Amino acid sequence: MINEENAGKGAVNAVPVAKSPFTHASTSAQAAAAIGAIPPVLTEFNCPLCNKLYYSIGDLTKHYEECHPGRVVPRIVVLHINGKDCEVLVEPHWTLKRTLQFRLGLTGAKHMCDRGVCGSCTVIIDGRPVLSCTTLTVECEGKSITTVEGIAADPKWKPLIDAYCRWDAMQCGYCTPGFVVSAKALLDRNPHPTEEEIKEALSGNICICGTYPRHAQAIMEAALKMSAEG
Ligand code: FES
Ligand code: FES
Repeated sequence: MINEENAGKGAVNAVPVAKSPFTHASTSAQAAAAIGAIPPVLTEFNCPLCNKLYYSIGDLTKHYEECHPGRVVPRIVVLHINGKDCEVLVEPHWTLKRTLQFRLGLTGAKHMCDRGVCGSCTVIIDGRPVLSCTTLTVECEGKSITTVEGIAADPKWKPLIDAYCRWDAMQCGYCTPGFVVSAKALLDRNPHPTEEEIKEALSGNICICGTYPRHAQAIMEAALKMSAEG
């Protein structure tokens, strides 16, 4: 059992936990680099249909009129992601997951079922966990989006990443970003969740490897450490 006294100390250390190769330092550095690489303003406009490169949206629009008449011209959307505004060029039917992965290089939201079932693509929009595979990018303009990269890069959430690593709450790790995002959304609204509340909050996340018990342990340990740190 974890309590404030033993969190991160003897009793928790006594639990046999495999040593994870991941650390907060390695994940946060990678996440910060990915966020930092996103340009705030678009300077290049690739045609999504034939990949020709243009240097203004006007030239791309002309190209559509000449070469792809009747097709909907991509549009520029300004997204507020991980505390940063950035322009992206998207087609109207693009999901947020696709935009994150293919336009912004944020690959933490994972592609698994692509139909709103598994939770691997979870992000936080305006404080709520949302499935990015069933959310259109154009719907997200003006909203605040947090991805797992933003959580990993934020020192406030080091206890959560540390706890996931310490408890080795992953096997292949493919589902883990979705779980971490759901956990962050839970801890934001309920800093001291019970095991039952954690299970309920994570009920939309599926782990094919079956790592479920360790998520609750990691999240309870993180909650204790975060409250102890104030
Ligand atoms: S990939 Fe979005 S819910 Fe499964
Ligand atoms: S750790 Fe492999 S799918 Fe969850």
